[in-house]
Amino acid sequence: MRLLLIGSGGREHALALKLSHSARCKALFIAPGNPGTAQCGMNVALDVSRHADVIAFCKNESIDLVIIGPEAPLVAGLVDDLEAVGIKAFGPSKVAAQLEGSKAFTKELCVEAHIPTAAFKRVTDAQTAKAYIRQQGAPIVVKADGLAAGKGVVVAETIEEAEAAVDAMFGGSLGQAGAELVIEECLIGEEASFFAIVDGTHALALASAQDHKRVGDGDTGPNTGGMGAYSPAPIMDDAMTARVMREIIMPTVEAMMKRGTPFRGVLFAGLMITKDGPKLIEYNTRFGDPECEVLMPRLESDLLDLILATIETRLDQVTPLWSRDAALTVVMAATGYPGTPETGSEIRKTDDAARLNNVTIYHAGTALRDDGALVAKGGRVLAVTARGATIAEAQIRAYEAVKVIDWPGGFYRHDIGWRAIEKTR
Ligand code: AMP
Ligand code: GLY
Repeated sequence: MRLLLIGSGGREHALALKLSHSARCKALFIAPGNPGTAQCGMNVALDVSRHADVIAFCKNESIDLVIIGPEAPLVAGLVDDLEAVGIKAFGPSKVAAQLEGSKAFTKELCVEAHIPTAAFKRVTDAQTAKAYIRQQGAPIVVKADGLAAGKGVVVAETIEEAEAAVDAMFGGSLGQAGAELVIEECLIGEEASFFAIVDGTHALALASAQDHKRVGDGDTGPNTGGMGAYSPAPIMDDAMTARVMREIIMPTVEAMMKRGTPFRGVLFAGLMITKDGPKLIEYNTRFGDPECEVLMPRLESDLLDLILATIETRLDQVTPLWSRDAALTVVMAATGYPGTPETGSEIRKTDDAARLNNVTIYHAGTALRDDGALVAKGGRVLAVTARGATIAEAQIRAYEAVKVIDWPGGFYRHDIGWRAIEKTR
């Protein structure tokens, strides 16, 4: 098959590497890709927001299947536009991607399908929002309805903080994403990310992961896209996985089907495991980044087979194999991230690090300079990933690899995996 993968992050490097290992993959293009994906296939300089350009490329190159990594093209309806001209695509339709694109959409679906989630109220004006906040008390969570690149959620410890978030969001700090807000109950428990693949009718549990969103050691400082992750999440044992499939994932799949807008693709549930059981915090409709960088090294089955089973609505007939090994990834970011990152600094010795046993270096915001040197181009730059018999072993290996990389312009957290490792002690 001739494949086109959309995206340019560490997630897409992990997907590209896995797809390139499939016996059925005869050609792999990545748009726009990065220097890491260029080692798995051919990067193409497409502006993926121009759907007509993507379609023209697919026709010229006889692409059999388009696989979409990030959320923006899904929410923009790229899958619908490709399918309208007969090109197969992996990922949800524009309407189904509203599970990620609109927090209010997901909350209404939870009500309709009796899915456990935080109590909430949708608001479109500050006065109603503040009245509800004062009535409920703190702590309380203020969320922008739309996509806000991880900046749309404020977990407020006080009423004043919640009211300030309401004013900022309605004041336009997040643009159109903050035109409607969801105010919700603050859930207490342990967070986990859970991934399922869904073909419209059937859902298959993939694996679990936990990520570290805060920029600093000890989970301090501002939120980021994710500074590291590990898989599996110890809290997601077989019983909890079955419960999440039964109480959260399957009711979602059935409700979307009943509405006539079946969900196809990867359903990534952000969960809070509370004393009353698992509750849905939010959905994403794609693999997580950096979670994908710890799932792909553990997937022993052919990813393309799984994707094809999804497109052909026969996920009930496949059973993916997962390694019993754990995987852990440490994100290396450019100085300044999550604010404005400093770009252009040179990164050396990634090849030496990649030669270590059970280590894979995924590229995200990297670029090749004219002289061939690898340089930083974005905020999150590398995802340094290792496998091990336990999370603790994977952690030791990943940090050995991080230490080999010579990049004075970058930084990383020193404690990825600490919660899981503490628990097993
Ligand atoms: P999100 O951007 O939706 O992933 O939310 C960012 C983070 O905010 C989550 O990972 C949680 O740590 C936290 N969060 C979101 N909603 C709630 C909630 N209802 N209760 C407690 N924490 C929450
Ligand atoms: N790491 C969180 C996300 O991909 O949304």
